[in-house]
Amino acid sequence: MLDEKILNVLRHSKDSYVSGEELCKIADISRAAIWKHIEKLRLEGYEIEALPHLGYKLVAIPDSLIPSEVKWKLKTKVLGRSVISYKKVDSTNIIAYELAEKGMKEGAIILADEQVKGKGRHGRHWSSPSKGGIYMSCILRPSIAPNEISRITLLAAVAVAQAIRDISSLEVTIKWPNDIMMDGRKLCGILTQMKAEQDSVDFVVLGVGINVNAAIKNLPKGASSIKEELHRRGGKTTLSRVDLTKRVLERLEEYYNIMKSEGFGPIIDMWKDLSAMIGARVKVTLPGKAFEGVAHDINPDGALIVRTESGLLERVSSGDVAMVR
Ligand code: BTN
Repeated sequence: MLDEKILNVLRHSKDSYVSGEELCKIADISRAAIWKHIEKLRLEGYEIEALPHLGYKLVAIPDSLIPSEVKWKLKTKVLGRSVISYKKVDSTNIIAYELAEKGMKEGAIILADEQVKGKGRHGRHWSSPSKGGIYMSCILRPSIAPNEISRITLLAAVAVAQAIRDISSLEVTIKWPNDIMMDGRKLCGILTQMKAEQDSVDFVVLGVGINVNAAIKNLPKGASSIKEELHRRGGKTTLSRVDLTKRVLERLEEYYNIMKSEGFGPIIDMWKDLSAMIGARVKVTLPGKAFEGVAHDINPDGALIVRTESGLLERVSSGDVAMVR
């Protein structure tokens, strides 16, 4: 708490120094105690200049998804109000699931700079190189039935796609159900896990992995990062992971509230606007079955409706769907 208080004073005074005396007064602690807090902030990666007679000045903030950075000027009421961050974990989804089981409240988020056992859909691995992306799991406790869980996944895809569009010039699109793509290359994946009773959801762990500044050589085939896509277009090449995390949380909360007050219809409409899939030729691969057709629509539950070659409408609620030429 005191760290954040000191940090906020330094942030507010921007390019000027804050005297040790002033910090002592604000934090109501001794000069020696102020020094200890400054040292702790430095260990977290904050560059703080200290000059005799002048005091302290914040020179640079760390490129780390630490709570004080994520919460600074975050415009949400619930999502991201409680932040736990790690340098390296197996998987943020595993941690979030365990915490949710112990009663962690809605809106809490788990972040990591690196994951060694990042979990992807269909039991795949999610490459999570250190500081290359945003690896975030969010605990939600929505009042929905277990068979409506795909609503949360689609809502998250809309929120992440919109957040990337908000803070970069990339016109990303969504590939059903929840991959965020740029020109056919995958930038983000979403993995939702839940604990449910027969007809009610106890909690949802919404795992979001966004390739932000990762080098292409550290990503699997077919994947790309925001940095790489900006570079291809000759633009600014690095994006602040902290800024994007905040924007994602703000969009998620905004759309989650829309879903609560107006139902899922507006989210489906936004999904369709951001999707590059409706009208495209697709190949659907299900366990033991594969077929091609044209993606016709998405139904109110979030299932993809595909018109097959024989003119039949097939409802696809899981499986792999790839766009074909
Ligand atoms: C996919 O396969 O498309 C989904 C990938 C989801 C990855 C994210 S990264 C944060 C969270 N923790 C995990 O282990 N997985 C999800």
